[in-house]
Amino acid sequence: MKKQQIIWNSLYKEGLTWKKNSKIDQDIRNKSVLELGVGNGKTLKAILNKNPKQVVAIDISKEAINSIKFRKKNLSLITKDFLKFNTKDKFDMVFSHYFLNNFEEKERKEAVRRIKLLLNKNGIILFEDFMVGDLRHKGAEIEENTIEKQNGIICHFFTKNEIEKLFEGMGVESNEKIFNPVRGNKSVRRKIIKAKITKL
Ligand SMILES: C[S@@+](CC[C@H](N)C(=O)[O-])C[C@H]1O[C@@H](n2cnc3c(N)ncnc32)[C@H](O)[C@@H]1O
Repeated sequence: MKKQQIIWNSLYKEGLTWKKNSKIDQDIRNKSVLELGVGNGKTLKAILNKNPKQVVAIDISKEAINSIKFRKKNLSLITKDFLKFNTKDKFDMVFSHYFLNNFEEKERKEAVRRIKLLLNKNGIILFEDFMVGDLRHKGAEIEENTIEKQNGIICHFFTKNEIEKLFEGMGVESNEKIFNPVRGNKSVRRKIIKAKITKL
């Protein structure tokens, strides 16, 4: 993951930000929340607005964490590779928004194994990520449905079946969304998948 960390750091140093507001429908009042791959805090802002009890937000990039300018008593910001993150805490909710696409298959499975271990009984994972056929799904594949972008960043594109398999034994409600890109070529589509995954 070292190479990915170096690239993410340089992207954030150059001013990378995620802008489109995140919308959270789930009630997270008084819940303990873990956010994976917090980036510049776009989804984190929406999480904090919904009055959770406690939030731990983690990112492999120090530059990303440093770009988050707000602090709260109930918020811990941690610079760490999630695959090396150890804690005794368990969480009611884990947010994985555009996070699991950053891994090749072996690491992706390991990340999912770790997420499951961090969930409280009846805990929920709120997953959102790219789908196969999304407009970014182009370029040489290094694994099935996984590309290395020109800048060296790994990006995987999910299918519905894959999400069900990764989270087998859990309650998976998924929802595919296809829409026009905000900018650029309207003949290609954005394809994303959202899922609410419950520990049974
Ligand atoms: C697309 S951004 C996520 C945006 C953010 N979740 C949001 O909703 O605004 C992906 C983030 O995952 C982080 N990341 C990639 N690999 C990671 C890892 N192994 N551990 C922790 N964070 C990682 C990157 O540094 C990057 O900030």
